Amino acid sequence: MCLTLHEAIYACRMFNDQLEVACRDFADRHPQSRLHFDEARKYMPGGHTRTVLTHLPFPVAFASGDGATLEDVDGHSYIDLLGDYTAGLLGHSERRVLDPVVAALANNVSVGGVHPAEAQLSRLMCSRFGIDRVRFTNSGTEANLMAITTAIQATSRRQVLVFSGGYHGGVLYFVSGPAPWNAPYEFVIAPYNDADATEVIIQEHASELAAVVFEPMQGSGGCLPADAEFVQRTCTAARSVGAIVIADEVMTSRHGRSGMLHLLGEVADITTYGKYLGGGFSFGAFGGRAELLDQFDTSLEGGRLVTGRQVISHAGTFNNNMASMTAGCAVLGEVFTADVAESHTKRGEEFRESVASVLARHALPMSVTGFGSMMSLHALATAPQTINDVFLRDEVLQELVFLGLHERGIYIAARGMMNVGLAHTDDQLARALDALDETLGAIAGN
Ligand SMILES: Cc1ncc(COP(=O)(O)O)c(C=O)c1O
Repeated sequence: MCLTLHEAIYACRMFNDQLEVACRDFADRHPQSRLHFDEARKYMPGGHTRTVLTHLPFPVAFASGDGATLEDVDGHSYIDLLGDYTAGLLGHSERRVLDPVVAALANNVSVGGVHPAEAQLSRLMCSRFGIDRVRFTNSGTEANLMAITTAIQATSRRQVLVFSGGYHGGVLYFVSGPAPWNAPYEFVIAPYNDADATEVIIQEHASELAAVVFEPMQGSGGCLPADAEFVQRTCTAARSVGAIVIADEVMTSRHGRSGMLHLLGEVADITTYGKYLGGGFSFGAFGGRAELLDQFDTSLEGGRLVTGRQVISHAGTFNNNMASMTAGCAVLGEVFTADVAESHTKRGEEFRESVASVLARHALPMSVTGFGSMMSLHALATAPQTINDVFLRDEVLQELVFLGLHERGIYIAARGMMNVGLAHTDDQLARALDALDETLGAIAGN
């Protein structure tokens, strides 16, 4: 839909007034969360330890979760349509994961040595994702830092090409330009989904590029999927100059049988993983071609470390922690099998189409983007293609939609992200669509 200037100014004032009321109502409904927030702020700057969780007027504190629902400390219950930014794919009470974890922890919490679960998980990951070798970390951020390190060591080059709108962790942030606090790699930034420009930039840096890092769909950037041609041309150009292709599938490995890049017809040299694979426990991993990953191989030969080659040391007290390794085995081995992943991707696509139909019923500038079970609402009349489009959103309307859904018991990300999980029932997804319909109707005044 397209508004005249007069209509746009009127809508802007109307949305601002509504937002003030919505924030007041929110505060009235959540006195215990408010107390929690005020207390937490005394000891944690901003009252949190994860920036993405803050929103107007303050975040609610959650007390418990069950299946696909959450309950806050004021006793309100929500359909959890965020799924912890994709880490909570399984919901809050998947016994097939929790039971083996509890049993493993009853045996030993912290081994300080290698153990069978990590070897089993590495085997499951290699066969599921078509990689030769894998190593575990504590988070997706660490996985990306290690993947980039691997490429730099393998190529003896220093530059790393990333894309505007990309997010690879707190210190690998390119959503609104490169963050000043980013890890001090030599970054080169190219426009996402622009194959022509990317090829030129890769050629310009041909002899210095260690790696090209990209998300098959920019998740934090607003669920903006890459198009297949862009991905294929980028990978070809990277390889033609000897750069390592790193696919960040920390969020998107849930799509299809072996991750989203496979669906786009490409294979990376190194892929990074995280989120749901740890079944809700902290998790990260990077894996790929043997000749790259074997830089970490410390195998003894004849009782001695192989000499004459530089082995990369990879530390991390909790890399192979018992809870995450055991959970990962249950996730990949039993719960989120390749067949389940494939059908879940389809289910997510259907839900996104239903969301688009609800949006189309209302005279508000709203659109939805995404792929499979990951999607994002945008306060924009036309679905954004790049991060520059996302910057044009009406952020007041965006907040209003978030708060309207919140009030109606649907929990999504303040920035608009929604993820369909395995625990959602059809009835819960239908209720979420009804809540969206009501929210938009209330904002539009019909
Ligand atoms: C694509 C992508 N890469 C990396 C990360 C960082 O993962 P973590 O939060 O586990 O450090 C995220 C987190 O949202 C992500 O979306």
